[in-house]
Amino acid sequence: MTARRTLFQTTPIYYVNDVPHPGHAYTTIAADTLARARRLQGHRVFFLTGTDEHGQNIERIAREKGKATQAYCDEVAAVFKALWARLDVQYDRFIRTTDDIHRRGVLELWRRMTAATAPDGQTAVYRGKYAGWYCPRCEAFKDEEELKEPGHLCPDHERPCEWTEEENYFFRLSAYSDWLKDEIESNRLLIEPAGRRNEVLSVIRQGLKDFSVSRARVKWGIPVPEEPGHVFYVWMDALANYVTALGFADDAAEFRTFWLEADERMHLVGKEIIRFHCLYWPAMLRAAGVPAPTRVFAHGWLTKGGKKLSKTTGNTIDPDALIDRYGTDAFRYFFLREGSFGQDWDFTDDAFVKRYNSDLANDFGNLVSRALTMVARYSDGQVPPRPASLDEGDDGLESRFQSEKVDWDATGTALVSSVFARYESLDYAGALGLLWSWVGQLNQRIVVQAPWEMAKDPGRRPELGQFLYRLLEAIRLIAVMAWPVMPAAAERVLAMMGLAPGAPVPEDLGWGRLEPGTTLPPVVALFPRIEAAGAEPRTPKERKVPEETTRPAGPPEETTQAVAPGGDMVTIDEFAKLDLRVALVKSAEKIAGSRKLLKLQVDLGDEVRQVVAGIADAYTPESLVGRKVVLVANLKPAKLMGVESFGMVLAASLDGKAVLCTFDADVPPGTKVK
Ligand code: MSP
Repeated sequence: MTARRTLFQTTPIYYVNDVPHPGHAYTTIAADTLARARRLQGHRVFFLTGTDEHGQNIERIAREKGKATQAYCDEVAAVFKALWARLDVQYDRFIRTTDDIHRRGVLELWRRMTAATAPDGQTAVYRGKYAGWYCPRCEAFKDEEELKEPGHLCPDHERPCEWTEEENYFFRLSAYSDWLKDEIESNRLLIEPAGRRNEVLSVIRQGLKDFSVSRARVKWGIPVPEEPGHVFYVWMDALANYVTALGFADDAAEFRTFWLEADERMHLVGKEIIRFHCLYWPAMLRAAGVPAPTRVFAHGWLTKGGKKLSKTTGNTIDPDALIDRYGTDAFRYFFLREGSFGQDWDFTDDAFVKRYNSDLANDFGNLVSRALTMVARYSDGQVPPRPASLDEGDDGLESRFQSEKVDWDATGTALVSSVFARYESLDYAGALGLLWSWVGQLNQRIVVQAPWEMAKDPGRRPELGQFLYRLLEAIRLIAVMAWPVMPAAAERVLAMMGLAPGAPVPEDLGWGRLEPGTTLPPVVALFPRIEAAGAEPRTPKERKVPEETTRPAGPPEETTQAVAPGGDMVTIDEFAKLDLRVALVKSAEKIAGSRKLLKLQVDLGDEVRQVVAGIADAYTPESLVGRKVVLVANLKPAKLMGVESFGMVLAASLDGKAVLCTFDADVPPGTKVK
């Protein structure tokens, strides 16, 4: 394990001008995942988030809503907190700029800044007159060249900017240009991705302008002590949260540990606010004699229909509706898996459903349920004995994986360190991609090793036990490594493996942690498939059979139903709803009192099912045993002649007699038929 580091990390504090949308959730989930990954590696982490509540924009919105400003802020801050709770975000502190600890911290920062001398020998703060175009939504002055004409519109918000002339306090940013350039070029302030670093350096090259740090007209803010009619500029106020929350005003122990002495002080931000974080903020701290941040990561935007998700442009999605539909873990997984974190990417429901079904329901969910079902069936529901020498290269699972694409040494540490290196560089899609390539390889391994064949031969029992132990161990480790992204689902998997409830600890990243002989609890479905965009996820597999039904299972009886008109063609998505599988007939018997019906037990690779098929007039029970047939595996269960049927065998009908669909090569049971 790497040496224990002390790491401070933040999200931007979000404006309370409206309730949160998935853009805010995106940053916050990313920060939470990083914090969890770091804690899981044994590092000491402080994760800060919060809300930005001052400024004329918020004051105006509260007025429009007919609410007292503070009461309005309280309401929206509570909505942010509730969303973070729903999304399993575990921050260490939630700072609000209306908190007293923040106000006192801002005053302390101001006291130090006003006492400071800038690198050019002049005072760091001075009084001056400002005249310019101000966008109240950005809470920033805009250069005349930036404005969209006619109407002097803000380029981001497409709303008119206001011509503003004021006597203000200014911060002498221009004097810090060389220092900033040096910090960034030396990577003492690491700006990522590299393109953003170049962007900031180019802003410095074009010449930095001093900025005003007080506002004469705004009422809703922290009053400037020297000028009670002024409040602090909202960005000066907001940026300070990163230290005020730690108790900067009181020189608190937390401030010393997590800011002054931290190994890393990192801000995670959207790309639109790098200027504030990479220029204004480090220079303000420099003036105040406080160490600057060491890392700023600027991620790309979430867009919809090509436009940034944003409250102000009205292009938004309700995060609660997404969580209702897909669940917290799928929400977190999708946002971190789908796009590349530094880049913009477009949200679609369709992509969400596809990811959900393919990665979560199919690949991961099936892997877990197949493995656990096999343990239930072949190992009395208990963790099999631990293979004698897990770290000696035998032909077991982990050594076989060495030859695969993913580098997996005998203890699994190579995969663990590759995954965590990706988390650390905020390459979430990369970390998950690596884990899911493992999921895919394990699924394949099951088909290739065919444990159900091992189970037939009592002499191969030890081999079967070793295979299952290693398979479970690999899944356990994948769940632990995926925990930072999907904590609840991972903990559910670990619980199904008989492990103690709660968050995994650094020791869980080792290989061979499962305790042989542990009796495993019942398997529960993790991610029930979602049928299509807009549809509800299915509830976990219902095995209860409806009392009375007359619908036939087995090849359809001859019917007089009219042939569907050509207009009733199905789409590929509709067809894809059918789960067709290769099934091996293990036993067959006649159903008493029926001429046509047979009761079959069929093997689907990871389970054996009972199916009733109307094929007795064409096949004897004996002739069916050992044959492979096509089964509609997701047909609603039915009862025929009092016998339960969990699926339907496909057959053609020739002269009223069933002709089974078969395969012209040997295909393992459970293989999907498409
Ligand atoms: N209050 C300031 C930040 C002050 S930090 C000292 C602010 N607030 S905000 O509510 O507008 O939130 C901005 C942040 O929310 C972005 O930097 C980004 O992290 C996140 N996002 C908001 N919309 C987003 C997208 N459409 N896509 C990705 N992230 C988004 O600016």
